Amino acid sequence: MTIFPARLKRKYNRNKKFFFSKLQNIYSGAGSGLGAGVSKQLAAKGVTVICWDVNVRGNINTVNEIINSGGKAFSFKCDVSNREEVYAVAKESAKIAGDVTILVNNAGVVGGKSFVEEDDKMILKTFEVNAISHFWTTKAFLPKMMEKNHGHIGKKFSSKQYLFSFLTFLALSRSVVLTK
Ligand SMILES: NC(=O)c1ccc[n+]([C@@H]2O[C@H](COP(=O)([O-])OP(=O)(O)OC[C@H]3O[C@@H](n4cnc5c(N)ncnc54)[C@H](O)[C@@H]3O)[C@@H](O)[C@H]2O)c1
Repeated sequence: MTIFPARLKRKYNRNKKFFFSKLQNIYSGAGSGLGAGVSKQLAAKGVTVICWDVNVRGNINTVNEIINSGGKAFSFKCDVSNREEVYAVAKESAKIAGDVTILVNNAGVVGGKSFVEEDDKMILKTFEVNAISHFWTTKAFLPKMMEKNHGHIGKKFSSKQYLFSFLTFLALSRSVVLTK
């Protein structure tokens, strides 16, 4: 258990908004589901959220909701499995929204069929989006974070990587990221 002295807690609460307002967050897959939900929660705390998704309409909806609630957000169409697009959109995002301090690799796909039934193209896509894209996004943002000695990189995981799942390739795509 952490003991947090009342004096420090008061100081933290006073500066919380200021602290969060200094954070710039790239959230991939922000156009729906968990990505949209967490982006809105971060924005409500004062974080500037830069939403990336291939689902342009969903992404714009997330950003509009944030802006209408008084938050700060930007929408970019980005296919995280396309490394050239990731590098280009990363540059554009930093130019418009500032240096990124938090990167959340949330974008994901799931075919939903068993290993033998799944289409080969979907198996490849699962790895490209759920695993390999992390190398491109991390390469795009890590150098600046290292230069500033400040930054966080996160990933939305699933308990499937720990279990022997019938969706073997989905579990594997997650494990690649977990063990890299
Ligand atoms: N929902 C769950 O119960 C659960 C559980 C464990 C892990 N996860 C993982 O959490 C993440 C979010 O889950 P969700 O339920 O919100 O899924 P979701 O399908 O609602 O959201 C995923 C988002 O990623 C976007 N996306 C897909 N391919 C992309 C690409 N190439 N480039 C950019 N964006 C792309 C989609 O358009 C979508 O908006 C996924 O990685 C998922 O695998 C979800």
